[in-house]
Amino acid sequence: MYSEKVMEHFANPRNVGEIEGANAIGEVGNAKCGDIMKIFMKIENDIITDVSFKTFGCGAAVATSSMATELVKGKTIKEALNITNKAVTDALDGLPGEKLHCSVLAEQAIRAAITDYYKKNAMDPLPIVGCDLNCSDCASEH
Ligand code: FES
Repeated sequence: MYSEKVMEHFANPRNVGEIEGANAIGEVGNAKCGDIMKIFMKIENDIITDVSFKTFGCGAAVATSSMATELVKGKTIKEALNITNKAVTDALDGLPGEKLHCSVLAEQAIRAAITDYYKKNAMDPLPIVGCDLNCSDCASEH
């Protein structure tokens, strides 16, 4: 049912915990199941130099969180914003259909952290990040 990569990232998640001095923090919840993911980033000169996560959620959420941190590490903000939940699940060799919603957490958390970074730097995140996907008004459209 789960790919070997999913099982491996679930058993040995990468980048777990909280980075001291993180300057971009995003927390999102999955409306479907109530699971929560928090992502911590250190961004220097537009590059995500360090990243970690804490996920209170199912195995698929942990595995996708782990893979997402691996995918964004060392990337520019722009590159990180292009990482979709599909890219994360592809990198894990797929997820069972009923668990696909779990991967949305990782994509949203990346966007939420980058939104936080721009807000902390007194910049409007909307033109760069777009919708932060956290509002209940438009969540159903995504
Ligand atoms: Fe909640 Fe997977 S069941 S994220």
